[in-house]
Amino acid sequence: MEVSKLFGGTYKGRRCLVTGDSGFKGSWLVAWLTQLGADVKGYALPPNTEPNHRTLLQTDYGSIEGNILNLDALKAVFEEFQPEIVFHLAAQSLVRYSYDNPIETYQTNVIGTLNIFEVSLQTKSVKAIVNVTSDKCYENKEWIWGYRENDPMGGHDPYSSSKGCAELLTQSYRKSFFNGTSQHILLASARAGNVIGGGDWSQDRLIPDLVKAAAIQEETEIRNPLATRPWQHVLDPLSGYLMLGWKLLNGERAFADGWNFGPDLSSNLSVREISDEAKSFWSKINYVVSTDKKNHHEANLLMLDCSKSNKLLKWTPVWDRSETIKKTIVWYKDYYENGVVNTQQDISHYVQDAIRKKKAWTL
Ligand SMILES: NC(=O)c1ccc[n+]([C@@H]2O[C@H](COP(=O)([O-])OP(=O)(O)OC[C@H]3O[C@@H](n4cnc5c(N)ncnc54)[C@H](O)[C@@H]3O)[C@@H](O)[C@H]2O)c1
Repeated sequence: MEVSKLFGGTYKGRRCLVTGDSGFKGSWLVAWLTQLGADVKGYALPPNTEPNHRTLLQTDYGSIEGNILNLDALKAVFEEFQPEIVFHLAAQSLVRYSYDNPIETYQTNVIGTLNIFEVSLQTKSVKAIVNVTSDKCYENKEWIWGYRENDPMGGHDPYSSSKGCAELLTQSYRKSFFNGTSQHILLASARAGNVIGGGDWSQDRLIPDLVKAAAIQEETEIRNPLATRPWQHVLDPLSGYLMLGWKLLNGERAFADGWNFGPDLSSNLSVREISDEAKSFWSKINYVVSTDKKNHHEANLLMLDCSKSNKLLKWTPVWDRSETIKKTIVWYKDYYENGVVNTQQDISHYVQDAIRKKKAWTL
């Protein structure tokens, strides 16, 4: 199957603006959109990790360095590029950092999102927005059931709470400004769980911490070994975002809503379990459990119920937990030991597996 025909051929030649393209998920999304034949522009702060995935990929597209809090700069980009769809991924994305920098976190994640909505309203070419928030947007009751899209928003730490706020903002803008039949924009929000995959070197995230230490043959100190999360490969939620974008660009209003994109329940693993499985693919990975009692509060049990996206959007993950962990760890092992960047190859394998499994976006 020709790659540009995936997602109903929606993205071929489409002007897609990706905010946060210098980050982990944004750089993968740009790589995939480029394969799909889209006309892509990125808008983000300069990369803040060394190495950085976007830099390693050397993809040929227009990336603009700017702050989403700078309304004038944003307006200029929208005016010049005239995007048809905006994938909004720019965010202060780290829980621990948010405790030390709450103002920056709320400004970026709430006011920054507000700016994206306002500028989109003023730009007639924009037909769709996919606003990426998080599974952490829900009021976490630490229970064994998955959260559904209509559960209350909440968030204990500033990051999670800022994502709950971004969801409330999304609902308000959808009802107040994007809902009239005369309006040109359909707005959806996407809530995914803990995402892994090659090319993430962010601070205080488990897999980056494990592989960075492995590369220099050191042990990683892990916090909260019993904390259980929905781990998924970055391409799984991205396939959900691209499905949403496809429906919204088709003018299907029922999809202008909130959507969970999580893994199968078997992929809900504790920090210790995923660390052990990661080690089975790269023996240099070693860890010790941190004895530091001063750790900030972090969610211990957090799962998503994805019945709505499974049934209505017909989205399901492609890779199971074992494939997800294997692809992720092999990506880093190949990078550190052979200098190879497997991103394009991972996307191709993912698409082939999705075609074989007859996923809705490949039919
Ligand atoms: N990685 C995960 O496990 C995960 C899980 C759930 C949700 N999310 C959400 O997905 C989105 C992308 O996450 P990620 O892991 O790629 O994060 P990341 O930290 O790797 O990237 C964040 C991106 O946002 C940009 N950015 C930050 N502040 C900005 C500002 N003020 N102006 C312009 N750009 C700014 C950065 O430059 C970078 O490009 C975020 O909204 C994040 O909250 C991530």
